[in-house]
Amino acid sequence: VRYGVLGTGMVGAAIGTKLVSLGHEVTMGSRTADNEKAVAWAASAGPAAHQGTFADAAAAAEVVVNCTAGAASLDALAAAGAEHLDGKVLIDLSNALDHSAGFPPPLFVCSTDSLGEQIQRAFPAAKVVKTLNTMNRDVMVDPARIPGDHVVFVSGNDADAKAQVRDLLGSFGWPAERIVDLGDITTARGPEAFLLLWLRLMLVRGNADFNIAVVG
Ligand SMILES: NC(=O)c1ccc[n+]([C@@H]2O[C@H](COP(=O)([O-])OP(=O)(O)OC[C@H]3O[C@@H](n4cnc5c(N)ncnc54)[C@H](OP(=O)(O)O)[C@@H]3O)[C@@H](O)[C@H]2O)c1
Repeated sequence: VRYGVLGTGMVGAAIGTKLVSLGHEVTMGSRTADNEKAVAWAASAGPAAHQGTFADAAAAAEVVVNCTAGAASLDALAAAGAEHLDGKVLIDLSNALDHSAGFPPPLFVCSTDSLGEQIQRAFPAAKVVKTLNTMNRDVMVDPARIPGDHVVFVSGNDADAKAQVRDLLGSFGWPAERIVDLGDITTARGPEAFLLLWLRLMLVRGNADFNIAVVG
């Protein structure tokens, strides 16, 4: 599958590298055509790894993954171009964190709306699936690094898109029974709001190697 990974941060690199290792073709997108981190990633990740602008990455892709800063995601996706997102699965793992005023960052949207919904509303012809945002990037692509029956959530309006994302998560190492479909895109509100607790847990534990297990 041809993936467009929008984002040159640690998450874009982790997801891009995992996708390439699974045999996919990946273009990492950035605001600029020659982003230093994207160039370095493409050079190190092998012949299936490419880089370009957000629009280059989305245009080349069958599936797009939003790995941009949450506060900039709508702008980044606009730069990618609605015409390059229409009809495609758009996996959104961004978080609605407002980093403008120090730590801990508040959410800039929550409770009655979510970033996943904002993205779906802005790009109505894209099939937005919110997932993976509730854990550190290393856990996203290697769930076995943490013991226990911990889970990943999936929210989205399109059943086929969610089935495709479930398959992808399975290839990342997520057992089917630990992929929890919460419902439509409005259900992204809970997983996004979990970040308030996630950030505190990271501080008190002193690491990011943890995840949610749902027991009962
Ligand atoms: N860190 C984690 O383990 C983790 C876990 C779960 C979810 N997340 C979420 O994953 C996303 C990516 O996180 P990250 O730490 O890898 O990277 P990040 O620093 O949050 O985002 C980097 C990306 O955002 C783009 N960007 C920044 N400002 C922009 C603007 N004004 N307009 C357009 N694009 C802009 C950058 O573009 P350029 O390439 O042009 O610089 C870059 O591609 C975030 O939403 C984060 O909350 C992170």
